[in-house]
Amino acid sequence: MKEENYRLLVSQVDALVAGETDATAILANVSAALHDAFPERFFWVGFYRVVGDELLLGPFQGPVACYHIGYGKGVCGTAWQRGETIVVPDVEAFPGHIACSSLSRSEIVVPLKHADGTVCAVLDIDSAELAAFDDTDRHYLEQVAAVVARQLQAASENGQQ
Ligand code: SME
Repeated sequence: MKEENYRLLVSQVDALVAGETDATAILANVSAALHDAFPERFFWVGFYRVVGDELLLGPFQGPVACYHIGYGKGVCGTAWQRGETIVVPDVEAFPGHIACSSLSRSEIVVPLKHADGTVCAVLDIDSAELAAFDDTDRHYLEQVAAVVARQLQAASENGQQ
């Protein structure tokens, strides 16, 4: 069920981003598609973009969130720094976790990378349940992130962003 949802999601995202060259529009629709795929499990889903030396809040679905996250700060800033996915089964056990909502209990953050490995954004998903994310989530969300990152890079090379 979860895998089937993810497989549909990845092909949906593929089609959704094809041909679009505006980063905000792409990230907005992908946030909506992710939330629609798992409305119960994904309490907050959205993107932070690398702008200068920090992460800046981008399109998302869910409660209001903090605007700025520094390099190496919180789960998002740490995923940016490491250039790798971070799965946090219990946010209270992650040193430096940034609590945008007290209802968030577990989290996954996946970096979006350009072809040269540079992180241009992160995908952040929070759950109100403990340990909501496993290797299946990681596997498919990394695929979603790769599809979106490729399109963002194509958009930026077209001088759109
Ligand atoms: N918890 C994140 C901050 C972003 S919100 O969860 C939407 C972090 O520690 O980086």
